[in-house]
Amino acid sequence: MDRRAFLATGAAIAVAPGCSFLQPTARNLRTAQARQSLAGAGHPDTAVWAYNGVVPGTELRFRQGERVRIAVENALGVDTTVHWHGIRLPNAMDGVPHLTQPPIAANGGRFLYEFELPDAGTYWYHPHLGNPEQVSRGLYGALIVEEREPPAVDRDVVWVLSDWELDRHGRLDEEFTSPMAASHDGRIGNTVTVNGMVRDTFAVQPGERIRLRLINAASARICGLVFEGHAPTVVALDGHPVAPHAAPRVVLGPGMRADLMLDCTAKPGSQHRVIDSFYRQNAYELLKLQYRDDKPVRESFRPVQALRANPVARPDLAKAERHRIVFGGGAMGRVPDQARHKGMFWTVNGQPMADDHDHRHHPPLLALALRKSYVLELVNDTAWHHPIHLHGHAFRVLTHNGKPVEREQWSDTVLLDPKSRAEIAFVADNPGGWMLHCHVLEHQASGMMAVVHVA
Ligand code: C2O
Ligand code: CU
Repeated sequence: MDRRAFLATGAAIAVAPGCSFLQPTARNLRTAQARQSLAGAGHPDTAVWAYNGVVPGTELRFRQGERVRIAVENALGVDTTVHWHGIRLPNAMDGVPHLTQPPIAANGGRFLYEFELPDAGTYWYHPHLGNPEQVSRGLYGALIVEEREPPAVDRDVVWVLSDWELDRHGRLDEEFTSPMAASHDGRIGNTVTVNGMVRDTFAVQPGERIRLRLINAASARICGLVFEGHAPTVVALDGHPVAPHAAPRVVLGPGMRADLMLDCTAKPGSQHRVIDSFYRQNAYELLKLQYRDDKPVRESFRPVQALRANPVARPDLAKAERHRIVFGGGAMGRVPDQARHKGMFWTVNGQPMADDHDHRHHPPLLALALRKSYVLELVNDTAWHHPIHLHGHAFRVLTHNGKPVEREQWSDTVLLDPKSRAEIAFVADNPGGWMLHCHVLEHQASGMMAVVHVA
């Protein structure tokens, strides 16, 4: 190698922390039973399953471009895997049992995940086995990838939202796959926690700007958050930057995320409710923003800047190949009788797919050509909501019910309203077998999933 080439390589190392010459950043996750006070002081605690002893699990925070190595040890009595929701990583690291790896064995199995983080943003991790039980018992955590030059804020805060079905003694209802829930809305619980606890208030400083990262880790509950007296600015959806815009209500289906810039413009000492009004008949107060009685740290706020786009390939819409995918079934829908008897209530293009299936032997729903552009029309032919998630890629959401989305949006999960359709577009640039499924986990487990092959 001549000296000039050597210097060029040296420079590349200095600016690219994800370069494989550098040691990967190491973290450990251990799954085990734990107890946690979900409802707060004075209420009984709850037996949960947790990563590193807490729900949500340890917040993993990295820098864009970094290479990470995460050693998972499974101390539960059942097999598990870890899926890194939204991360565009090599197929073998995607955490789907049988499709991309063998399950991590019960009682001490281990698996080493190692991958680079091409995209900044708000992501999360959770098992992809024993859905919905493992997630409903508390197995999930935030995976935050900071920009190389993060925007200036006073605080960067994550709210992991989860939903629990608890009795008066704090015990978790252990019927995770009731046919009733599976064929309707999924299992909507009775207790919503923010970072593993029911909270009355969230303390803020007058005049501060908070980057608030919302993650909906519930198995089924969709949330629609309203910040009374405030006008938060959405800057990213599913981790990917979007033109900053005000959102009167932030709607997140299971699996979805939003990054907000929340300017604390109200009076010192004041209180403001954050309401979840997605199910309008059952709106409730999530918590109150409680302003400290201090002098504001600033009187005026600079306009919110757009975040830098992630390096996602742009699909060529003119040349894209189109496919139509129809989601069917559910209560009031049509499903083949034998499937219904096996607890399968949902179909993708007429076929239900079981969770206990060895995915390798299931014919793929689609076989996509590597690096080619695709437009998928996702049709919800049911009376229920479905957040549809594609692994291994970020897609552009083009339309809802034929209407173009207002601003360019990149996502990994798109929420389909009942009897609606959406078009998404992406470049199939990540080889392997990838899941396409509903993130209402009770729907996923009762048929609403498929495998897409990219080769
Ligand atoms: Cu968040 Cu297939 O998963
Ligand atoms: Cu669904």
